[in-house]
Amino acid sequence: MFRIQPLVSVLLCCFTFWFHISFGYLITCSGIVPMRYRNDKVSITDFGGVGDGKTLNTKAFREAIYRIQHLRRRGGTLLYVPPGVYLTESFNLTSHMTLYLARGAVIKATQDTWTWPLVAPLPSYGRGRERPGGRYMSFIHGDGLRDVVITGENGTIDGQGGIWWNMWRQGNLQFTRPNLVEFMNSRGIIISNVIFKNSPFWNIHPVYCSNVVIRYVTILAPTDSPNTDGIDPDSSSNVCIEDSFISTGDDLVAVKSGWDEYGIAYGRPSSHITIRRVTGSSPFAGIAVGSETSGGVEHVFAENIVIYNSGIGVNIKTNIGRGGFIKNITVSQVFMENVRTGIKITGDTGDHPDNQFNPNALPYVKGVTLKNIWGVKVQKAGSIQGLKNAPFTNICLSKINLHGMTGPRSPPWKCSDVSGAAIEVSPSPCAQLSSPQQSGSCANHF
Ligand SMILES: *[C@@H]1O[C@H](CO)[C@@H](O)[C@H](O)[C@H]1NC(C)=O
Ligand SMILES: *[C@@H]1O[C@H](CO)[C@@H](O)[C@H](O)[C@H]1NC(C)=O
Repeated sequence: MFRIQPLVSVLLCCFTFWFHISFGYLITCSGIVPMRYRNDKVSITDFGGVGDGKTLNTKAFREAIYRIQHLRRRGGTLLYVPPGVYLTESFNLTSHMTLYLARGAVIKATQDTWTWPLVAPLPSYGRGRERPGGRYMSFIHGDGLRDVVITGENGTIDGQGGIWWNMWRQGNLQFTRPNLVEFMNSRGIIISNVIFKNSPFWNIHPVYCSNVVIRYVTILAPTDSPNTDGIDPDSSSNVCIEDSFISTGDDLVAVKSGWDEYGIAYGRPSSHITIRRVTGSSPFAGIAVGSETSGGVEHVFAENIVIYNSGIGVNIKTNIGRGGFIKNITVSQVFMENVRTGIKITGDTGDHPDNQFNPNALPYVKGVTLKNIWGVKVQKAGSIQGLKNAPFTNICLSKINLHGMTGPRSPPWKCSDVSGAAIEVSPSPCAQLSSPQQSGSCANHF
C-alpha cells in the first residue's frame, strides 16, 4: 500500500500533464459566472462620444449607461467603445451590461482631480484607506449591480495616475485616492481581455462582492507608483483570477477583509478566492493576504504563479488589534526569480487606522500550506513570525527550494511563535517546523 500510493500519484500527475498538453484542457474560472451574449448593442458614438483624446466624454458615458439602465433590454446591453482615446470623468456602470473596448480603444481618466466625486468610506474600513473621511469614487464604479462584463479586444482603461501619485508624494491629498475599477455589493462580474494602466490607487477592487471572474487582463503601473495594487478581493467570495500579467508599484494580488474595529464589526470575510497562472513583478508582494484581514480570510487557493524582480514572493500579514482569521490558505507551483524574501508571514506589521483598536483582538492564523515552490536569486528564504499570545498553527511547508544570490543556498529561515511541519525544504527551515513528529500538520492538506 505505502509503496503503491506515490506511484499512483506520479502516474496521475503525468497523466494530467499529458492530458493538458494533448487536449488543451486547463482548469479555468469558467462556470463561476456565465458569459453573456448581448443582443442589444449601442456605441458610445451614438451618445456623442468623441475619441480624440481631448473631448470630455463624461456626458456620453453617463447618458449611454442611463439608457441601458432604464430601457432594460432583454438580455442586457453591450456598450461598444470603438478605437480612439475617450477622455472622461468617472462614471457608474449598471446591471446587465457589457462595457466592450475595441482593439485600440482607450478610456482615459481626466486629470482634473478637483472635479472628482467623493463617496462614503467603506464600513469595514471606517474611513478612507489613506486619509480620514470619504474617498474619491473609483474611475469606473459599480454599486449593487449584477451581471456586468468589462471586456473587448484588449483595449485600455488608463487612470493617468501620475497626478495622484504626486499629490500623495507631496502630502497634499485631501481624501483617499480613487481605485481604477471598483465593484461594491455586486455579483456576477466578469473582467477579461482589458489592459489596466496607471491606476491612481488600487487597480481592481471587488468589495462585498460574490462571483467575480478576472481573466486575461494586463495590469501595468511603474514600480515606484505608490499603492497601485493589481487586484484586491476584499470581503468578497467566489473570486477567480487567472491567466493575467500584473506589474505594478505594490502587491500584485492582495486578499483583504477590512481593518481593526471597523472590519471586526462589519465581519464579512473573503473566502473561496482562486488565483492561477498569474505572472508579474512587484516591489512588494506577488501573492499577499492582508494586512487588512479583520473580517477573516479563508479558502484561498493560488497555483502556477511566476514572480520575478520583486520584494516578496508570498506574503501573509496581519496585526495585533486586527482580530479576524486567516485559515486554509494554499499556495503551490510557484516559481520566483530575483526576489528579496521568498516567503514572509507576519503577525504584527504595526499599522492601524486610528488608536481605537482593541489590543486584545488578536488574529487567528491556522492552516497555511505552501508547496512546490522553486526560487532562484532569492536573498532571504523566509520568515514566519506568529504572535506570542496567538501562535500560528498548522503551517506546512513542503517541497520548497529557494536558491540564494551567489551560492546554492540563501540564509536560513527565521521563525517565532509558529508550529507546523516542513518536508523537503531547502535551505532547512527553522527548528519550530522541522521536528519530525510535527509532520502530521502537513497531512490534512494533501
Ligand atoms: C455613482 O455611484 C455613487 C455611489 O453609489 C453615487 O454616490 C453617485 O451619485 C453616482 N453617480 C452618478 C452620476 O450616478
Ligand atoms: C488579449 O490579451 C490576452 C492576455 O494577454 C490574450 O490571451 C488574448 O489573446 C488577447 N486577445 C486579443 C483579441 O488580442
